[in-house]
Amino acid sequence: METRTIGIVMNGVTGRMGANQHLLRSIVPIMAQGGVRVSPELTLLPAPVLAGRNEEKLMAVAKQAGDALGGTPLPITTDLEQAVRSPSCDMLFDASITQFRARAIELAASIGKPIYCEKPTATTSAEAMRLVRVADDANIKTGVVFDKLWLPGIRKLKALIDANFFGRILSIRGEFGYWVFTGESPDQPAQRPSWNYRAADGGGIAADMFCHWRYVLDHTFGSACGPITKLAAWVNTDLPRRFDESGNPYDADADDSAYAMFLLGDRVMAQFNSSWCTRVRRDDLLTIQIDGTHGSAVAGLRECWTQSLADTPRPVWNPDITQPIDFFANWDKVEDGIAYDNAFKVQWELFLRHIALGEPFPWTLREGARGVELAEAALVASSRCEWVEVPQ
Ligand SMILES: NC(=O)c1ccc[n+]([C@@H]2O[C@H](COP(=O)([O-])OP(=O)(O)OC[C@H]3O[C@@H](n4cnc5c(N)ncnc54)[C@H](O)[C@@H]3O)[C@@H](O)[C@H]2O)c1
Repeated sequence: METRTIGIVMNGVTGRMGANQHLLRSIVPIMAQGGVRVSPELTLLPAPVLAGRNEEKLMAVAKQAGDALGGTPLPITTDLEQAVRSPSCDMLFDASITQFRARAIELAASIGKPIYCEKPTATTSAEAMRLVRVADDANIKTGVVFDKLWLPGIRKLKALIDANFFGRILSIRGEFGYWVFTGESPDQPAQRPSWNYRAADGGGIAADMFCHWRYVLDHTFGSACGPITKLAAWVNTDLPRRFDESGNPYDADADDSAYAMFLLGDRVMAQFNSSWCTRVRRDDLLTIQIDGTHGSAVAGLRECWTQSLADTPRPVWNPDITQPIDFFANWDKVEDGIAYDNAFKVQWELFLRHIALGEPFPWTLREGARGVELAEAALVASSRCEWVEVPQ
C-alpha cells in the first residue's frame, strides 16, 4: 500500500473562497479522510503549504486548518515563487483575486508545475486565451474551478435530462442572487469583498457569474439543447456607491446586476438573471427551472423538484377570488441518489487524480476561457443593445 504525497502550494487562502471552500471544506477533509484512495494499492495525500502576503493572516488560517485536523498549524510562506520552485511542490493552486491570476499561471508555467485555479481566469477573452497559450507552451496540466457541476441540485437536473424526463426541452430559466449590503450601515456590513464592485480590480457580476453559466449550460444542457449560439443582455450597476472593508465610501463602478437571454442551438431559450441587488423569495440562492413537453423541474443548490405532464394543474385567471391552487403542491422531490460530497472537494479529488495518474480532467484553462468569452459577449451585447454571436 503506497501513500503518495502531493505537495500543493495554496495561494489566496486568506480569502473567502480559498479559506472556506478550498482549504477548510476540501483539502482539510481530504486529509482528514486519509487522502484520496484511488486503488487498494495507492492513496494520494495532499500536503498543503499556505502562501500569501500577510504572515499574520496566514498563521490564523494555518492554525484553523491544523486545529480541524487535530494537529499543528499547516506550513505557511510569504515567498510564493520559492515555494512553487521547491522540489516538494507538485502543483500550484490560486484563489486570489482575479487580477492576480495571470501572475500565478505564468509562475506555474515558468517552473513547469500544474496549476489549478479559481474562475474567472481573466477579465478579457484575449487575456484568457493568452494564458491558455502560456500554459500550453509550457506543457503543464491546468484546471479551473467549475464547482456548480457537482452541486446536488444540478447533478439531479443532469440525471433527469439524461433519462429524458422532460421530453423536448422548451426553455430554461435561472435566477441567481441575493442582497449584498452596501456596508453603509455598520449594523449591516457588506458580506462580499469590495473589489467585487470595482471594475479596475476585476469586479463585476457578469465576469463572476457568466463563467459559471457557460459551463453549466455547456455541460448540463449541451447534449440535449446544443451550445449557446447567441445572447442578448442587460448589464447594469444598480448601486453605484458602496463602503469598503475600512468603512470608507467608494465608487462601485462594476456591474452588480446582469440579465441575459442565451439561445441554445437555434431554439431553446435559457434566460438567466444574476443580481446582487435582489431579495430572495424563491427556493434557493440559485434556482434553475426547465420546462419540457413531458415535464418540468426546478433545482436549487441541493434539492430538485419535478412536475410531470400528468400532474400539471389547470389554472384559470380570476383575480376576483383567492388563488385556489397551491402551485407548490404537485411537485415531487427528487431523492438523493448518493451522499453528495462538497462540490469543490469532488473537483479537487478529480484534479489530484489527474495530476498523479493522468486521468482525464476536461475543465482546463481553455474551457475556463469560454466562460470569460461569454461574459465579454454579454457586456458587448448590453452596451450595443444588440444580439451578439457567442464564439464556439
Ligand atoms: N467558484 C466560485 O463559486 C467563486 C465564488 C466567489 C469567488 N470566486 C473567485 O475566487 C477568487 C477569490 O474571490 P474571494 O471572494 O475569495 O475574494 P477575497 O477578496 O475574499 O480573497 C482574495 C484573496 O486574494 C488575496 N489577494 C488580494 N489581492 C492580492 C494581490 N494583489 N496579490 C495576491 N493576492 C491577493 C487576498 O489576500 C485573499 O487571500 C476570485 O477570482 C473570484 O472570482 C469564485
